[in-house]
Amino acid sequence: MDIVIRGTTRLMGVIGDPIAQARTPEAINPIYAAMGADIVCVPLHVPADALATCWAGLKAMPNLVGFGITLPHKTAALDLCDEVDLVARRVGAVNVVRREADGRFKGYNFDGAGFVRGLQAAEIHVAGRPCHLIGAGGAAMAIALALAEAGAAEIVVTNRTLSRAQALADRVNADLGKTLLRAGTAAPVADALVVNATSLGLRDTDALPLDPACLTPGMTMAEVIAQPEITPLLTAAQARGVAVHSGLHMITGQVGLIAEHLAAGARAR
Ligand SMILES: NC(=O)c1ccc[n+]([C@@H]2O[C@H](COP(=O)([O-])OP(=O)(O)OC[C@H]3O[C@@H](n4cnc5c(N)ncnc54)[C@H](OP(=O)(O)O)[C@@H]3O)[C@@H](O)[C@H]2O)c1
Repeated sequence: MDIVIRGTTRLMGVIGDPIAQARTPEAINPIYAAMGADIVCVPLHVPADALATCWAGLKAMPNLVGFGITLPHKTAALDLCDEVDLVARRVGAVNVVRREADGRFKGYNFDGAGFVRGLQAAEIHVAGRPCHLIGAGGAAMAIALALAEAGAAEIVVTNRTLSRAQALADRVNADLGKTLLRAGTAAPVADALVVNATSLGLRDTDALPLDPACLTPGMTMAEVIAQPEITPLLTAAQARGVAVHSGLHMITGQVGLIAEHLAAGARAR
Protein backbone atom coordinates (compact mmCIF):
# COMPACT_ATOMS: atom_id res chain seq x y z
CA MET A 1 0.00 0.00 0.00
CA ASP A 2 1.40 3.42 -0.99
CA ILE A 3 2.08 5.87 1.81
CA VAL A 4 1.52 9.48 0.74
CA ILE A 5 2.89 12.27 2.94
CA ARG A 6 0.93 15.51 2.65
CA GLY A 7 0.91 18.83 4.49
CA THR A 8 -1.94 17.45 6.61
CA THR A 9 -0.04 14.31 7.62
CA ARG A 10 0.58 13.92 11.35
CA LEU A 11 3.82 12.61 12.70
CA MET A 12 4.74 9.79 15.09
CA GLY A 13 8.39 9.50 16.13
CA VAL A 14 10.44 6.68 17.60
CA ILE A 15 13.21 8.02 19.81
CA GLY A 16 16.34 6.13 20.78
CA ASP A 17 20.13 5.97 20.62
CA PRO A 18 21.06 4.07 18.52
CA ILE A 19 17.97 4.18 16.33
CA ALA A 20 18.98 2.37 13.13
CA GLN A 21 17.76 -0.96 14.59
CA ALA A 22 14.20 0.36 15.21
CA ARG A 23 11.61 -1.87 13.53
CA THR A 24 8.53 0.15 14.52
CA PRO A 25 8.43 2.48 11.46
CA GLU A 26 8.30 -0.33 8.90
CA ALA A 27 5.81 -2.30 11.03
CA ILE A 28 3.43 0.53 11.91
CA ASN A 29 3.29 2.61 8.71
CA PRO A 30 1.39 -0.07 6.75
CA ILE A 31 -1.06 -0.33 9.68
CA TYR A 32 -1.72 3.44 9.64
CA ALA A 33 -2.19 3.24 5.85
CA ALA A 34 -4.60 0.29 6.14
CA MET A 35 -6.57 2.17 8.84
CA GLY A 36 -6.82 5.23 6.59
CA ALA A 37 -5.04 7.27 9.29
CA ASP A 38 -3.04 10.21 7.87
CA ILE A 39 -0.08 9.50 10.20
CA VAL A 40 3.50 8.50 9.39
CA CYS A 41 6.12 7.13 11.75
CA VAL A 42 9.78 8.12 11.47
CA PRO A 43 12.90 7.22 13.48
CA LEU A 44 14.39 10.10 15.51
CA HIS A 45 17.97 9.74 16.73
CA VAL A 46 17.93 11.26 20.23
CA PRO A 47 21.17 10.91 22.24
CA ALA A 48 20.74 10.55 26.01
CA ASP A 49 22.23 13.97 26.76
CA ALA A 50 19.83 15.64 24.30
CA LEU A 51 16.64 14.01 25.59
CA ALA A 52 15.27 17.02 27.48
CA THR A 53 16.00 19.40 24.59
CA CYS A 54 14.44 17.07 22.00
CA TRP A 55 11.45 16.41 24.29
CA ALA A 56 10.70 20.15 24.47
CA GLY A 57 10.95 20.34 20.67
CA LEU A 58 8.59 17.38 20.18
CA LYS A 59 6.11 18.93 22.57
CA ALA A 60 6.18 22.23 20.68
CA MET A 61 5.10 20.54 17.40
CA PRO A 62 1.29 20.33 17.37
CA ASN A 63 1.18 17.88 14.43
CA LEU A 64 3.20 15.27 16.37
CA VAL A 65 0.70 12.73 17.78
CA GLY A 66 3.22 10.96 19.98
CA PHE A 67 6.26 8.74 19.85
CA GLY A 68 7.61 5.32 20.70
CA ILE A 69 10.56 5.10 23.06
CA THR A 70 13.44 2.69 22.88
CA LEU A 71 16.77 2.44 24.72
CA PRO A 72 18.15 4.37 26.57
CA HIS A 73 15.16 6.66 27.25
CA LYS A 74 12.44 4.36 28.68
CA THR A 75 13.16 5.16 32.33
CA ALA A 76 14.17 8.82 31.95
CA ALA A 77 10.86 9.44 30.14
CA LEU A 78 8.95 8.72 33.38
CA ASP A 79 9.99 12.09 34.79
CA LEU A 80 9.46 14.03 31.56
CA CYS A 81 5.86 12.92 30.96
CA ASP A 82 3.05 15.14 32.29
CA GLU A 83 1.24 11.94 33.37
CA VAL A 84 2.13 8.24 33.39
CA ASP A 85 -0.30 5.31 33.33
CA LEU A 86 -0.31 2.65 36.05
CA VAL A 87 1.48 -0.03 34.00
CA ALA A 88 4.37 2.28 33.04
CA ARG A 89 4.66 3.40 36.65
CA ARG A 90 4.75 -0.17 37.97
CA VAL A 91 7.18 -1.35 35.29
CA GLY A 92 9.34 1.74 35.70
CA ALA A 93 9.49 2.31 31.94
CA VAL A 94 7.52 4.23 29.31
CA ASN A 95 7.48 2.84 25.78
CA VAL A 96 4.89 5.13 24.17
CA VAL A 97 4.02 8.78 24.70
CA ARG A 98 0.76 10.20 23.37
CA ARG A 99 -0.25 13.84 23.03
CA GLU A 100 -3.60 13.90 24.81
CA ALA A 101 -6.60 16.07 23.86
CA ASP A 102 -5.43 18.84 26.19
CA GLY A 103 -1.88 18.78 24.79
CA ARG A 104 -0.26 16.96 27.74
CA PHE A 105 2.23 14.17 27.04
CA LYS A 106 1.07 10.94 28.73
CA GLY A 107 3.37 7.94 29.03
CA TYR A 108 2.20 4.34 28.57
CA ASN A 109 3.71 0.89 28.63
CA PHE A 110 2.14 -1.53 26.13
CA ASP A 111 4.30 -4.61 26.84
CA GLY A 112 1.62 -6.47 28.78
CA ALA A 113 -1.35 -5.36 26.69
CA GLY A 114 0.64 -6.27 23.55
CA PHE A 115 1.37 -9.70 24.98
CA VAL A 116 -2.33 -10.34 25.63
CA ARG A 117 -3.28 -8.95 22.20
CA GLY A 118 -0.78 -11.41 20.70
CA LEU A 119 -2.43 -14.29 22.58
CA GLN A 120 -5.89 -13.18 21.41
CA ALA A 121 -4.70 -12.99 17.79
CA ALA A 122 -3.55 -16.63 18.11
CA GLU A 123 -6.88 -17.57 19.75
CA ILE A 124 -5.21 -18.51 23.03
CA HIS A 125 -7.66 -17.74 25.80
CA VAL A 126 -6.78 -16.19 29.14
CA ALA A 127 -10.15 -15.59 30.80
CA GLY A 128 -10.79 -18.17 33.52
CA ARG A 129 -7.42 -19.85 32.93
CA PRO A 130 -4.69 -20.53 35.52
CA CYS A 131 -1.47 -18.73 34.59
CA HIS A 132 2.09 -19.57 35.58
CA LEU A 133 4.44 -16.62 35.16
CA ILE A 134 8.22 -17.09 35.27
CA GLY A 135 10.14 -13.89 36.05
CA ALA A 136 9.71 -10.83 38.21
CA GLY A 137 11.29 -8.03 36.17
CA GLY A 138 9.66 -5.32 34.08
CA ALA A 139 8.21 -7.63 31.41
CA ALA A 140 6.73 -9.92 34.09
CA MET A 141 5.14 -6.96 35.91
CA ALA A 142 3.53 -5.69 32.69
CA ILE A 143 2.29 -9.18 31.78
CA ALA A 144 0.94 -9.87 35.28
CA LEU A 145 -1.18 -6.70 35.15
CA ALA A 146 -2.42 -7.52 31.65
CA LEU A 147 -3.24 -11.18 32.45
CA ALA A 148 -5.20 -9.98 35.50
CA GLU A 149 -7.13 -7.50 33.34
CA ALA A 150 -7.80 -10.26 30.78
CA GLY A 151 -9.51 -12.37 33.48
CA ALA A 152 -6.88 -14.95 34.47
CA ALA A 153 -8.27 -17.36 37.10
CA GLU A 154 -5.04 -17.20 39.15
CA ILE A 155 -1.44 -16.22 38.53
CA VAL A 156 1.45 -18.11 40.15
CA VAL A 157 4.71 -16.16 39.92
CA THR A 158 8.04 -17.99 40.08
CA ASN A 159 11.47 -16.43 39.80
CA ARG A 160 15.14 -17.17 40.44
CA THR A 161 14.94 -14.57 43.23
CA LEU A 162 11.71 -15.63 44.91
CA SER A 163 11.50 -12.48 47.05
CA ARG A 164 11.07 -10.44 43.84
CA ALA A 165 8.22 -12.74 42.76
CA GLN A 166 6.60 -12.18 46.16
CA ALA A 167 7.03 -8.41 45.86
CA LEU A 168 5.49 -8.46 42.37
CA ALA A 169 2.52 -10.54 43.56
CA ASP A 170 1.97 -8.27 46.57
CA ARG A 171 2.15 -5.10 44.44
CA VAL A 172 -0.31 -6.34 41.80
CA ASN A 173 -2.70 -7.80 44.38
CA ALA A 174 -2.72 -4.41 46.14
CA ASP A 175 -3.46 -2.65 42.83
CA LEU A 176 -6.27 -5.12 42.08
CA GLY A 177 -7.68 -5.00 45.60
CA LYS A 178 -7.85 -8.82 45.69
CA THR A 179 -5.55 -11.84 45.93
CA LEU A 180 -5.16 -13.14 42.39
CA LEU A 181 -1.40 -13.66 42.42
CA ARG A 182 0.86 -15.74 44.65
CA ALA A 183 4.55 -16.47 44.56
CA GLY A 184 5.65 -20.09 44.63
CA THR A 185 7.88 -22.79 43.23
CA ALA A 186 5.23 -25.41 42.37
CA ALA A 187 4.98 -26.83 38.83
CA PRO A 188 2.26 -25.41 36.52
CA VAL A 189 -1.23 -26.95 36.88
CA ALA A 190 -2.88 -29.06 34.14
CA ASP A 191 -4.28 -26.50 31.66
CA ALA A 192 -2.06 -23.55 32.60
CA LEU A 193 -0.91 -20.76 30.36
CA VAL A 194 2.83 -20.81 31.17
CA VAL A 195 4.78 -17.63 30.35
CA ASN A 196 8.54 -17.19 30.26
CA ALA A 197 9.04 -13.51 31.14
CA THR A 198 12.72 -13.85 32.05
CA SER A 199 15.60 -12.94 29.75
CA LEU A 200 16.62 -16.62 29.50
CA GLY A 201 16.52 -17.82 25.90
CA LEU A 202 18.22 -14.86 24.23
CA ARG A 203 21.59 -16.61 24.20
CA ASP A 204 22.41 -20.16 23.04
CA THR A 205 24.18 -20.80 26.33
CA ASP A 206 21.20 -19.82 28.55
CA ALA A 207 19.71 -22.39 30.89
CA LEU A 208 16.02 -23.23 30.38
CA PRO A 209 13.75 -21.09 32.60
CA LEU A 210 11.86 -24.19 33.75
CA ASP A 211 12.16 -27.96 33.55
CA PRO A 212 10.21 -29.00 30.40
CA ALA A 213 9.34 -32.28 32.13
CA CYS A 214 6.65 -30.37 34.07
CA LEU A 215 4.90 -29.35 30.82
CA THR A 216 1.99 -31.50 29.61
CA PRO A 217 -0.43 -31.35 26.64
CA GLY A 218 -3.28 -28.94 27.42
CA MET A 219 -0.86 -26.26 28.62
CA THR A 220 0.33 -23.39 26.44
CA MET A 221 4.00 -22.35 26.67
CA ALA A 222 4.37 -18.66 25.75
CA GLU A 223 7.56 -16.61 25.46
CA VAL A 224 8.61 -12.98 25.71
CA ILE A 225 11.82 -13.78 23.84
CA ALA A 226 11.30 -12.92 20.18
CA GLN A 227 14.79 -13.66 18.89
CA PRO A 228 15.18 -16.57 18.30
CA GLU A 229 11.56 -16.93 17.22
CA ILE A 230 11.50 -20.50 18.56
CA THR A 231 13.57 -20.65 21.74
CA PRO A 232 15.04 -23.88 23.14
CA LEU A 233 12.23 -23.82 25.72
CA LEU A 234 9.57 -23.70 22.98
CA THR A 235 11.32 -26.53 21.11
CA ALA A 236 11.33 -28.64 24.29
CA ALA A 237 7.65 -27.83 24.91
CA GLN A 238 6.69 -28.76 21.34
CA ALA A 239 8.48 -32.09 21.76
CA ARG A 240 6.16 -32.79 24.70
CA GLY A 241 3.01 -32.03 22.69
CA VAL A 242 2.49 -28.61 24.29
CA ALA A 243 1.09 -25.68 22.27
CA VAL A 244 3.67 -22.89 21.95
CA HIS A 245 3.49 -19.14 21.37
CA SER A 246 6.53 -17.11 20.28
CA GLY A 247 7.58 -13.76 21.76
CA LEU A 248 7.21 -12.28 18.26
CA HIS A 249 3.44 -12.09 18.83
CA MET A 250 4.06 -9.71 21.75
CA ILE A 251 5.76 -7.27 19.36
CA THR A 252 3.05 -7.59 16.69
CA GLY A 253 0.35 -7.15 19.32
CA GLN A 254 1.99 -3.99 20.63
CA VAL A 255 2.41 -2.39 17.23
CA GLY A 256 -1.29 -2.82 16.43
CA LEU A 257 -2.34 -1.43 19.81
CA ILE A 258 0.00 1.55 19.56
CA ALA A 259 -1.30 2.43 16.08
CA GLU A 260 -4.89 2.34 17.35
CA HIS A 261 -4.00 4.32 20.47
CA LEU A 262 -2.17 7.13 18.67
CA ALA A 263 -4.75 7.30 15.85
CA ALA A 264 -7.54 7.60 18.46
CA GLY A 265 -5.57 10.39 20.16
CA ALA A 266 -5.19 12.21 16.84
CA ARG A 267 -8.95 11.91 16.13
CA ALA A 268 -9.76 13.35 19.57
CA ARG A 269 -7.78 16.54 18.95
N1 LIG B 1 8.78 -9.55 22.92
C1 LIG B 1 8.64 -8.34 23.44
O1 LIG B 1 7.88 -7.49 22.91
C2 LIG B 1 9.35 -7.99 24.73
C3 LIG B 1 8.99 -6.84 25.44
C4 LIG B 1 9.65 -6.54 26.64
C5 LIG B 1 10.65 -7.38 27.10
N2 LIG B 1 10.99 -8.49 26.38
C6 LIG B 1 12.07 -9.39 26.85
O2 LIG B 1 11.74 -9.81 28.15
C7 LIG B 1 12.94 -10.18 28.83
C8 LIG B 1 12.87 -9.67 30.27
O3 LIG B 1 12.88 -8.27 30.23
P1 LIG B 1 12.74 -7.42 31.57
O4 LIG B 1 12.67 -6.00 31.17
O5 LIG B 1 11.67 -7.99 32.43
O6 LIG B 1 14.17 -7.71 32.28
P2 LIG B 1 14.51 -7.54 33.82
O7 LIG B 1 13.64 -6.52 34.45
O8 LIG B 1 15.99 -7.37 33.86
O9 LIG B 1 14.12 -8.97 34.46
C9 LIG B 1 14.87 -10.11 34.10
C10 LIG B 1 14.20 -11.37 34.65
O10 LIG B 1 14.91 -12.51 34.17
C11 LIG B 1 15.42 -13.26 35.29
N3 LIG B 1 16.74 -13.78 34.98
C12 LIG B 1 17.76 -13.11 34.37
N4 LIG B 1 18.83 -13.90 34.26
C13 LIG B 1 18.50 -15.10 34.84
C14 LIG B 1 19.19 -16.32 35.04
N5 LIG B 1 20.45 -16.47 34.64
N6 LIG B 1 18.53 -17.33 35.65
C15 LIG B 1 17.25 -17.19 36.06
N7 LIG B 1 16.54 -16.04 35.89
C16 LIG B 1 17.16 -15.00 35.30
C17 LIG B 1 15.49 -12.27 36.43
O11 LIG B 1 15.48 -12.97 37.65
P3 LIG B 1 16.03 -12.29 39.02
O12 LIG B 1 14.88 -11.41 39.52
O13 LIG B 1 16.33 -13.41 39.89
O14 LIG B 1 17.23 -11.46 38.63
C18 LIG B 1 14.21 -11.46 36.19
O15 LIG B 1 13.07 -12.17 36.61
C19 LIG B 1 14.10 -9.55 28.02
O16 LIG B 1 14.79 -10.58 27.36
C20 LIG B 1 13.41 -8.67 27.02
O17 LIG B 1 14.11 -8.61 25.78
C21 LIG B 1 10.36 -8.82 25.21
